[in-house]
Amino acid sequence: MGISSSELLREAQELLPGAVKLRRRIHMHPELGLELPETKAAVLENLEGLDLQLLESGTTSGLVAVLRGARPGPTLVLRGDMDALPMPEDTELEFKSKVPGAMHACGHDSHVAMLAQAARLLDQHRDQLSGTVKFMFQPGEEGHAGAKHMLDEGLLDDADAAFALHIFPLLPLGTIATRPGAILAAADGFSIEIVGKGGHASMPHHAVDPIPVACELVQALQSFVTRRVDAFDPAVLTVSQIQGGTAGNVIPETATLSGTIRTVSERTRQRVHEGIQQLAKGIAAAHGLEARVTLVTGYPVTLNHPGFTDFAMQTARELLGPECVIEQPSPAMGAEDWSYVLQRVPGAMAFLGVRPEDAEPAPCHSNRMVLNEAGMVQGIALHAAVALRYLDGQARNFAGA
Ligand code: NI
Repeated sequence: MGISSSELLREAQELLPGAVKLRRRIHMHPELGLELPETKAAVLENLEGLDLQLLESGTTSGLVAVLRGARPGPTLVLRGDMDALPMPEDTELEFKSKVPGAMHACGHDSHVAMLAQAARLLDQHRDQLSGTVKFMFQPGEEGHAGAKHMLDEGLLDDADAAFALHIFPLLPLGTIATRPGAILAAADGFSIEIVGKGGHASMPHHAVDPIPVACELVQALQSFVTRRVDAFDPAVLTVSQIQGGTAGNVIPETATLSGTIRTVSERTRQRVHEGIQQLAKGIAAAHGLEARVTLVTGYPVTLNHPGFTDFAMQTARELLGPECVIEQPSPAMGAEDWSYVLQRVPGAMAFLGVRPEDAEPAPCHSNRMVLNEAGMVQGIALHAAVALRYLDGQARNFAGA
């Protein structure tokens, strides 16, 4: 990099007030899903005056701002997701959500703000860039696979590497945490309908009761995870809903179990999917009932590319000091549609510590989640540092590493 770490941090610090302003504006007007017109308008307004080519998604509010460096070279994607969550906000913030039932509880408002300001910072340093930066403003991360929509539209076809930051309110301010390999889980859903025969609760022998079979299956699923899944390639299987019956003296015809499956490898993911089918059908059949299993495939495992992750961690160490960079011992069991990008392009996601100073830290997705906006300085600077170092004219090829 032709610019020192302290200079980069100083420039990011100067961009903080703008980031705070943009973040608060988006925070007050959270939008859900794939159509985020106000958020997109705020982003476009903030990018005004910068020398960027804008590529708009035709089917969503997604937007890619393209910054071309002074010389040709590879293309790096930097990403900020833009959507909020369908939940009430119960913070005391003066800029709390004005939209009932919608809250930026996952910090995507700050992701947008950091990315927009990183574009502003890099716009001033394009003479040092050999290649292209694509700033990916993405809708619909929270269950709508917005990243996949943008990939399918070809907006990232020329990408050679990709980097994303996600805030983490439980981590110390300004620290970076990541790891090579799985960083987040695959999240799938399941539903099992157990079909028996209804009857009088006093005469179960004239019915085929699905309730005890449902109970047996809940236990069997837990035994399956502990006995059949490698402890070092784990799975979480939670039955979070049991539905069946309407009255104390009626045996219902059906009972339904549903829940979530989290895994950190495709191998275990497949094994659990197969295991659920086998157990449900086998246990139901053993009692003379039928099980109808529905698996709802969600986001895949988010796999950080080892070579690129090393590169990003080294960049963070040089920028912030080695004490501010943590290698996570294990993945988190949340899920991300960034996984689709990392299936196509070598890259990484890292967590950015934004622990509040004067409030009890609450995790992402909490109705009381607050973040320390000062941490956006490190986020803006790290986005820029990754771009400056990746596009410094040296041939770096992570694809085959
Ligand atoms: Ni998130």
